[in-house]
Formats: sequence, structure tokens, C-alpha cells
Amino acid sequence: MAKTMKAVQYDKYGGGAAGLKHVEVPVPSPKKDEMLIKVEAASINQVDWKIQKGMLRPFMPRKFPFIPVIDVAGEVQELGLGVSNFKVGEKILGLLDFTNGGGLAEYAVAPKAIIAKRPRNMSPAEAAGLPAAGLTAFQSLKSAGIKFDGTDKSSNILITAASGGVGHFAVQLAKVAGLHVTATCGARNVELVKNLGSDEVLDYKTPEGAALKSPSGVKYDYVVHCAPTVPWSVFEPVLSDHGKVVDITPTMTSIFSSFIKKVTFAKKKLVPLFLVPKEGELEFLVNLAEEGKLKTVIDSKHPLSKAGDAWAKSIEGHATGKIIVEN
Ligand SMILES: NC(=O)c1ccc[n+]([C@@H]2O[C@H](COP(=O)([O-])OP(=O)(O)OC[C@H]3O[C@@H](n4cnc5c(N)ncnc54)[C@H](OP(=O)(O)O)[C@@H]3O)[C@@H](O)[C@H]2O)c1
Repeated sequence: MAKTMKAVQYDKYGGGAAGLKHVEVPVPSPKKDEMLIKVEAASINQVDWKIQKGMLRPFMPRKFPFIPVIDVAGEVQELGLGVSNFKVGEKILGLLDFTNGGGLAEYAVAPKAIIAKRPRNMSPAEAAGLPAAGLTAFQSLKSAGIKFDGTDKSSNILITAASGGVGHFAVQLAKVAGLHVTATCGARNVELVKNLGSDEVLDYKTPEGAALKSPSGVKYDYVVHCAPTVPWSVFEPVLSDHGKVVDITPTMTSIFSSFIKKVTFAKKKLVPLFLVPKEGELEFLVNLAEEGKLKTVIDSKHPLSKAGDAWAKSIEGHATGKIIVEN
């Protein structure tokens, strides 16, 4: 096996796509409970370039240079001690360790906990697009109160930015749970978002869209908010009496507001969500994908040699589905 590999890294905060450097570095070795993956495809999430911008400074990156990206699909190349549920040569998808990154490379080391076997009907690109965005959508719905055990009532849910990486999975998962979905997106994506299963779609650039008002007048029991921050005063009038907003891009203000609502026993709730991957959840999503109930919409595919284009596309904030980097 090769001793070195191509990778894309950055060596300081800031710089955007121009700050990414193409390098040849040693292939990493899997430690206990890890495996070495030959990466076939990786997907960019907003958090990848937000870390480069310094959002988690001084905690992340832990050191420079840093190879970013945590979503990968590929083939198991080598097993570390303690990994017995995977075989060399097996096709997988999953999340790398958030603090180590490593996905923008030919090989990456992954912890066994958040890796799943890849079904035959999923391409490497579709598989790489699923983990972080799919799990965030899933955990947002669970945190709203959806159980996915067949007992969910047919409640009304609003999903904002339903054309984005997280939003397009949230729409499909809400339909799996049997909810009535209102979704927001730009005019160019209305058809796509309808085809994903949304019952009603709002163009966010219209006055009704900006006010999040459902065309049929329903009030929302749940909101999975994937679009940029909007004030609570926009949600308040469109929520049902016990409506709950799950905010996946929490700010200090929304975290404070959520705390106040909790301690004052407010009926309408705001819940900040940070993805904390749990064992078994990725398998649940992969099973849905295998059954054809969950599809990854691909915005664009870029070779590793053009990873900067993928990075810049994600920074622009107008992806339809997932942005993929292929080896
Ligand atoms: N909390 C967590 O653990 C977690 C995990 C994953 C993601 N996130 C965060 O969640 C947010 C969404 O992530 P993502 O990956 O889904 O983003 P994304 O894929 O980059 O979202 C892009 C999409 O959002 C649409 N959009 C932009 N502004 C909108 C608005 N005001 N109303 C409706 N649609 C709008 C865009 O449509 P147009 O092109 O038509 O403008 C585009 O299709 C980001 O802030 C990300 O950092 C948080």
C-alpha cells in the first residue's frame, strides 16, 4: 500500500478556498477502535469552512496544518485493534472524528462507532452526503418530539431551507414519520422540494415566505429551522399553542431565549440543536436509503484536485442538496 497520499489542508485561520493547499502527506495509521478508509467521496458541510473561519477558535482546529471534512464514503483498507464488525474491502460511509477531520484526502482514519455498511444502491457520492446532514435532520426531528416508531401523530411541521443539505433530508424524514410538511426554499427549488414529499412549499423571497405563513393557514406544531437566523417574533404567530422550534444554527441570543422559555415554562419552545452522533442512528438512515425512502440530492461533484471549488460553493450558501468531492 502507498505510504503517502494526496490531501487538501489549511495552515491558518481564514483564507476561504484560497487558503486550501494541495499536499502529499503520510497515510495515517488506525489506532485501537479505528479503521483506515480509502476515501471514494467526501462531502462539505458549512461547519467545515466555519471552523477555518475561526468559529470554534481556539478549540478547533486542535493544530495546524489541518485536513478538514468529516463526511466520507469509501472502502475499509485496514482495521485497528478492537474492530471486528467490519472487513477489509467492505464499502462503508460515516463520520470521521469531528476534532480530527481528515476527509479531504485519499485515505482517512475513522472511529468504528459512527460508520455503517453501504448498501449497493447508494453511490459513493450519495453515501458521503448522508452522515452529518442526515443525522442533523434526524436528531432535529427527534428533539422536536418525533419518535419514528409508528406512534407519531400527523402533526404539522415547517422545515426552512428545505433545499439545503440538512433540510432536504428533514423533509423526507418528516414524511417517513407521517407529518404534514410545509417547506421553504427559493423559487428555483420549489419543484424539487415538492418532489421530496412536501405538502406545501413557500418561496422564502415572497412576503408570505418571509413571514413563514403556511398557504393553507395551518399552525406548526414543530419547526426544523435550517435557514439563517430569524427573530422569535416571526415564529411566534405561526406556531400552534405548544409549538416547538428546533434551531440548528443557534446563536448566543437564541440559546439565551431558549433558556428563558424553559425557566418560565413557556408553552412555545425554542430548542438549540448541536449534532452529537449516536451509535445506531446512521444505520437507521442507511436502512431507509436502502429501502428507497431517503435519497441524497447532489448539488455538484468536484474532483479532489478542485476541492477549492466545492469549498467556495458551500461558502456561497446556495447549494441544492450536498456538495461532493470525489477521489
Ligand atoms: N447544529 C448542528 O449540529 C448543525 C449540523 C449541520 C448543519 N448546521 C447548520 O445548519 C445550517 C444549514 O446547513 P445546510 O448544510 O443545510 O446548508 P446549505 O446546504 O448550505 O443550505 C443552502 C440552501 O439554503 C437555502 N436558503 C438560504 N437562505 C434561505 C432562507 N432564508 N430561507 C429558505 N432557504 C434558504 C438556499 O436556497 P437558495 O440557493 O435559493 O438561496 C440553499 O438551497 C447551517 O447554518 C449549518 O452550519 C448545524
